[in-house]
Amino acid sequence: MKDEVRETAYAKLNLTLDVMGKRSDGYHEMLMVMQTVSLADAIELKKTDETGIRALCNYRYVPTDGRNLAVRAAELFCTKLGIREKGIRIRLEKSIPVGAGMAGGSSNAAAVLRGMNRLFGAGMNRKELEALAEEIGSDVAFCIAGGTALARGRGEILEDLDPMPDCHIVICKPSFPISTPELFQKLDSINLRRHPDTVGMQAAITAGDLRECAMRMYNVFEEVPDRRMRTVAEIKSTMLDYGALGAVMTGTGSAVFGVWQDRETAEKCAAELSREFRFCGVFQPTERLVI
Ligand code: C5P
Repeated sequence: MKDEVRETAYAKLNLTLDVMGKRSDGYHEMLMVMQTVSLADAIELKKTDETGIRALCNYRYVPTDGRNLAVRAAELFCTKLGIREKGIRIRLEKSIPVGAGMAGGSSNAAAVLRGMNRLFGAGMNRKELEALAEEIGSDVAFCIAGGTALARGRGEILEDLDPMPDCHIVICKPSFPISTPELFQKLDSINLRRHPDTVGMQAAITAGDLRECAMRMYNVFEEVPDRRMRTVAEIKSTMLDYGALGAVMTGTGSAVFGVWQDRETAEKCAAELSREFRFCGVFQPTERLVI
């Protein structure tokens, strides 16, 4: 058995995001095409002589106690597997912005579950890890293997899709975060005018047609009446001016992304957006992990 393991926690984007209705358990019924990207946090798990699970993080404002999903994941893993030797140190080297709609916390939790599985030689398969993951949060199951997937239910019912066509993705996050429960609440007060063409998106992915994929990127949360959506619309508009094939907000925001075939124009757009927004960069889709 190992004493130390490292994992990469990839950020997720929503190529489409549809909310089908509110459920009796308070959650919303979702239909989403999800994609992991090369923007990632580095996670290190180490067995220590101390007792308890301790986390360290390079972002000072990220909680390192039980409010952190990575800590919750390690605790859940120990409880489920009856592991009493609980001296574990989790080091989170974060690059994924917080409150961005990119599953930063969820991807960390998923990476911790993958890492704990290796650290303790537990031999859990992907499905078993996903079952644990869904107890932690709605997006955690997708983050176990990532890649390209259709997500339903709370977001935990997954169907693997073919990999998204190769492309360059500019991700830009305005300085303000957006709280997920707050945006869901605001969405409940409106009637949606439009829904994404999820079936068309799946067909475009299967056909490997980036242009058709980009045309179908749509997120119903952009319809929510909130003045922060004006900044989202401005970023989208800059991306489209720079030749993006499509641009959309991810999850409940506030990050926005656009896709390009050509790296050079994507970089030009990122350079322009960086003048106004601190978080901006060019990334690529990542493939599903083999677990
Ligand atoms: O599952 P998770 O803890 O990540 O969800 C955070 C919050 O987002 C929930 O408390 C709920 O307010 C909202 N949510 C929802 N429907 C979903 C997923 C999340 O209403 N399918």
